[in-house]
Amino acid sequence: MVRKKQNLKNKKTALDFIHPLHERTFVLVKPDGLLRGLVGDILSRFEKRGLKIIALKMVWPTREHVYKHYPESEDWFSNIGSRTSEFFKEHNMRVEDHFGTKDEVRIGRKVKDWLGDYLTQGPVVAMIIQGMHAIKTVRKLVGHTYPIEALPGTIRGDFSVDTPTAANVEKRVVKNIIHASGNLKEAEHEIEHWFSPEEIYSYKRSDESTMF
Ligand code: PPS
Repeated sequence: MVRKKQNLKNKKTALDFIHPLHERTFVLVKPDGLLRGLVGDILSRFEKRGLKIIALKMVWPTREHVYKHYPESEDWFSNIGSRTSEFFKEHNMRVEDHFGTKDEVRIGRKVKDWLGDYLTQGPVVAMIIQGMHAIKTVRKLVGHTYPIEALPGTIRGDFSVDTPTAANVEKRVVKNIIHASGNLKEAEHEIEHWFSPEEIYSYKRSDESTMF
């Protein structure tokens, strides 16, 4: 096994092409996942699929660290707000009765505050996963953001059942066990935000030559 100084970014060639097998993503087991003893099961699902854990640590994050993990942009707030409003509508509930507003950006900001409360409640397990189309593959294994919508067989679909309607009535975030980067830009930001180059390892799994 080789310990190499790692580039924090997903590996790029001169043509700006990332080989699908080298793609990296960031995953966080949230405090509810850790307190429920699900870390081993979650790691094993990634490993069995042929994905490689190249960095791993337990951290008790500060609110500031959590705030910098999630974007601070109007687009991001408004996206969360609109998805939340849609979900409330589908369930015949009025989002304004619980958020005191229909403004999507304000709803998104409130959710970010709750994410700050939730992710500072206890330690989390942070990791970088590398492998075939890692970002998309991991998101599929993780399942839908809202556990009630997550399919059985996914991590959220097998271990959780929370919904934004129940959570928001109780003025809290959805308890969905795990976070995984949604795209390349998020993955690069989150990897750099949580890990230094010295914490990332390069090694070959013994089944790599058989699988690929
Ligand atoms: S995702 O999975 O990244 O596409 O999720 P996204 O919709 O962008 O939401 C980002 C995080 O905000 C949480 N969230 C909510 N919590 C409580 N109530 C409501 N209405 C709500 N909407 C979004 C969601 O759990 C996402 O957490 P992460 O850590 O990204 O999974």
